[in-house]
Amino acid sequence: MPAPIILGIESSCDETAAAIVTGDRRILAHRLAGQEAAHAPFGGVVPEIAARAHVEMIQPLVAGALSDAGLTLDDVDAVAATAGPGLIGGVMVGLVMAKALAHAGARPLIAVNHLEGHALSARLSDPDLGFPYLLLLVSGGHCQLLFVEGVGRYRRLATTIDDAAGEAFDKTAKILGLGFPGGPAVERAAALGDAAAVPLPRPLKGSAEPHFSFAGLKSAVLRAAPNHRAEDVAASFQAAVVDCLVDRTARAIGRANGATALVVAGGVAANGAVRTALQSLATVHGLRFVAPPSWLCTDNAAMIAWAGAERFAAGLTDPLDVPARPRWPLDPAAEAVRGAGVKA
Ligand code: KG4
Ligand code: ZN
Repeated sequence: MPAPIILGIESSCDETAAAIVTGDRRILAHRLAGQEAAHAPFGGVVPEIAARAHVEMIQPLVAGALSDAGLTLDDVDAVAATAGPGLIGGVMVGLVMAKALAHAGARPLIAVNHLEGHALSARLSDPDLGFPYLLLLVSGGHCQLLFVEGVGRYRRLATTIDDAAGEAFDKTAKILGLGFPGGPAVERAAALGDAAAVPLPRPLKGSAEPHFSFAGLKSAVLRAAPNHRAEDVAASFQAAVVDCLVDRTARAIGRANGATALVVAGGVAANGAVRTALQSLATVHGLRFVAPPSWLCTDNAAMIAWAGAERFAAGLTDPLDVPARPRWPLDPAAEAVRGAGVKA
């Protein structure tokens, strides 16, 4: 039997995307429309603007992906879409599109957790990556260490007690006037700066539990910014984040018995300094290091189609009345952490 063909849709934040991926890891098409220009004047993603942009872009992107792949809906074996967590207006646009296509084509629907998309993305880019593995998931909304045991089986070892790492990059960019989105802008500025120029804290570094905290670092950036070159602040900030990520991940490695690899995924995994530091950490601990290519780290639909392919292979499909979920933890059994979830 030929490998199944999965159409994937992503719309949980500020990228609208559609992709077609096969069960044997061929990316037949992937299209993406960013909304940077629409949100830039506000210095962050405005949910209402995002939802409207998804409505305008979703149909042409799906049609474009099908045409790039030389396929029609009839050739697709299942339709997967992000069903959460994320900005609910946007999630609903993509999920309703997927429901309509699944219904019209009489194909199964697969409701994908966006975080599972990131978590499994490394298995799309690396056919040799088997379970279990230790995953550092670092994005704009999340900063977690997960022990990935299988499709749908995630044990959360740590999370952030305040901001996500990507959020800290975005806020630092805003403070330094580097523009939006912040991560790539901070990385570019950091390349021109001195990472030793500005003393900044490493919140929770050395603490027993492998949790993260970035709010204090952001406040320190705010205080330091007027007295230093933006490039030096950016470089010092990036070095502090990298230090925290490495220290916390090292702590989690001790709790990830049996892990075959250290994997990093999510938007912040596109950062070169983050990748290099984690590569060294993995080497020290005798672990393989796997990081998807940068375009697969930031939000995209190929990772959603692939998570759909993994779930389809496991016989996991969803009814057409499956809800969109603004919050959806990968490990519902994980304990709430002091400070986590307090902010919206
Ligand atoms: O995974 P993602 O695309 O969306 C979410 O699910 O949140 O992650 C977006 C986050 C943003 O905070 C962005 O600033 C950050 O990833 N990011 C980066 C880089 N590229 C994107 N952070 C640091 N360096 C980068 N090169
Ligand atoms: Zn994401």
